[in-house]
Amino acid sequence: AFEAPCIRCTGASRTAVPQLILTLKEEVDRRRNLAIISHPDAGKTTLTEKLLLYGGAIQSAGAVKAKGEQRRATSDFMAIEQERGISISTSVLTYEYSGKHVSILDTPGHQDFSEDTYRTLAAADNAVMLIDAAKGLEPQTRKLFEVARLRRLPLFTFVNKLDRPARTPYDICGEIEAEFGITCCPVVWPIGSGDRFRGVLDRRSKKVMLFERGERGKEAVITNMMSVDDPALLDALGDVELYERLLEDVELLDELMEPLDMAKVFKGEQTPIFFGSAMTNFGVQHFLDSFMELGAPPLARALDVSGATAEGRASGADFQSGAIADDAEVVDPRSDEFSGFVFKLQANLDPKHRDRMAYVRVCSGTFHKGLKVKHARLKGTEITLSSATAMLGNERKPFDDEMIAFPGDIIGLNNPSGTLSIGDTLYTGGKRISFAKIPSFSPEVFARCLCPSPSKAKSFNKGLDQLIAEGAVQLLRERGEEAGGGVPILAAVGPLQLEVVQSRMQTEYDVDVKFEPISYTSARWALAGWDAVDEAVEANKLLNIRKLSDVYGRPVLLFPSEWRLNSVVGELSDKLGLRPHALA
Ligand code: G4P
Repeated sequence: AFEAPCIRCTGASRTAVPQLILTLKEEVDRRRNLAIISHPDAGKTTLTEKLLLYGGAIQSAGAVKAKGEQRRATSDFMAIEQERGISISTSVLTYEYSGKHVSILDTPGHQDFSEDTYRTLAAADNAVMLIDAAKGLEPQTRKLFEVARLRRLPLFTFVNKLDRPARTPYDICGEIEAEFGITCCPVVWPIGSGDRFRGVLDRRSKKVMLFERGERGKEAVITNMMSVDDPALLDALGDVELYERLLEDVELLDELMEPLDMAKVFKGEQTPIFFGSAMTNFGVQHFLDSFMELGAPPLARALDVSGATAEGRASGADFQSGAIADDAEVVDPRSDEFSGFVFKLQANLDPKHRDRMAYVRVCSGTFHKGLKVKHARLKGTEITLSSATAMLGNERKPFDDEMIAFPGDIIGLNNPSGTLSIGDTLYTGGKRISFAKIPSFSPEVFARCLCPSPSKAKSFNKGLDQLIAEGAVQLLRERGEEAGGGVPILAAVGPLQLEVVQSRMQTEYDVDVKFEPISYTSARWALAGWDAVDEAVEANKLLNIRKLSDVYGRPVLLFPSEWRLNSVVGELSDKLGLRPHALA
C-alpha cells in the first residue's frame, strides 16, 4: 500500500487531525468535493462562508463575502474578478472537517457563465443545489441544474432562508420533482418558517433539533435535541399547531416520499433535501455532517475511448458523465499511476507576476513536486511538473518537497508557454490515456472585436489569445483569415462573457477593445467540411447564413434566427455534419 504523510492534515483547521500516515485508499475515501449551484442571491456566498467557518478554514463571517459596493447584481463573475487574489478567487476552498478533506469548488452563478460552471462540475464529485425557500426554482437554478445533469453528478439540495416566510416544503419538493424529473428525499424536514422557524427534524434518526436564533453571523446554538416521540417536545416547541403539523408530516412523509436510496442519488435520479437558514446557521452543520457521510468520494472516471462521439450534440449523451456506462473503460482513483485533467485556465491572478495557471483535477495516484508526467494531446510527450500550487484553506501555496496531492484534489500548474489547454489529460505509466473531453457550449451572442489602435496590436493579440485559451469566449474569423489578420469575431454563450473580455483586456492588457455586435442568434459547426458547405451554397441552400471559420479552420455557420436554423438543420444536418459545438 502507498504510504505518505498527508500535508492537508496539518492545515490550519480547528478540527485538524495531527499528521497521519494514511494509505492512498484511505485518502481517497476521506475526500469530499462539492460545487454549489444556485441563482444569485439564494445565499451561496453565505452558505460557503458558513461551511468554511464550521471547517475552521476562516475565523469570522465576512472573510469571503464581497462587500456591498463590490457586489454587482448583474454578475457574480465580475465581483469575483474584483476579489481575485483575496480568497474566493482561488476557485477552490479546502479544509478538514471531522476527518474528511473537503474541497468547495467555486462556480459562477450567472447563466452566461454556464460553460465555466460546466468545466468546474467536470472536476467535482458532488453538486449542491441551493434554493431560496420563498422563491423556489429560479431561472439560473434551472439552467445550472441542466448543466449539473449533463454531468450526472450526485445532487444534494439545500433549501435556504427558512427564517423568512417561505413556501411549504411539500410545494418546493413538488416543484423540483415536476420540473427536474428527479425524486426528492427530505433528509431533514423544517419545523415552521419565518418567525416561527424552530428547527428541523432529522428523518433518519427521528431526532428534532431546536435552535436558538443566535446573533447574526454567529454559530447557531442547538437548544434542544429530542426524539420526535418524546412528549416533552410539545413544551419545548411551545407551539401546538407546529407540533401537530410535525407529527402529521412525519407520517405523511413516510407514505409520500421515497426512502433515501444512495444508488439512485449517485445516478442523479434522487436528491437528498435539507432545509435551513445559512444566515442564522439553522441546519448548516447538520447538512455538512450529513454530506460528509453521504457525499460521493472521488469515483472512477471514464476514459474517452471513441474520439468520434466527441463531436456529438450537447444533449448530455456525449458529455463526460458522472454516471459511467457498464462497458466504459475507467481509471480507478486508487491505482498507483497518476492521472488528472485540466479543467480551467486562468491568467494574471497576480497582476504583478502575469502568471498563467492551469487547474488540474487529480483523478488517480498521487502528485508531488517534480513529477514527470505525459501529455496525452502531445502524443505522450514527457513534461516535468516542477512548479505547482496547492489549494490550502482559502489560500494558494507553492508545493514543497513534502506535499502530496491525492485524487479529488485540485492543483495549480504553471503554464507559462500555454502547453496545457482545457481538457488536456496528464498521466504516468506506459499506457496513453485520455479523459473524455470538455465541450464548449453553443454560442448565441456574436460581435466583431476591434483593436483601437495599431500600436496596441501586439497586446491585443496576446490578450485575446490568452482569453480564448481560457475559454472565456470563442474566436471565429472570416474564411482564409484563420492565421490572423482581419477582424476577429467573438462568440459567447451570453453577453456578460463579452463584458468580462472587455474589462480584462482593459485591466490586464491595457487595451480598450470595441465590440460591434452582429445580429445572429445561433451557430452550428459544419463538420463535414468546406466542400460540403460550398456545395450547399451553390445549391442556394445557405442564403442569409454567415460562413465563418473557427481557430482550426472548420466551417461555422451563423444563423439569423431560430426559424432559419431549424429549417437548415432539418434539411442539411447530416449532409453538413451540423453540430452545436466542436471539440478541439
Ligand atoms: P449569493 O452568493 O447566492 O448571491 O447570495 P448571498 O450569500 O450573497 O446572499 C444574498 C442575500 O441573502 C444576502 O443579503 C444574505 O445576507 C441573505 N441571506 C443568505 N442566507 C440567508 C438566510 O438564510 N436567511 C436570510 N434571511 N437571508 C439570507 P444582502 O442584504 O444582499 O446582503 P448583506 O447585507 O446581508 O450582506
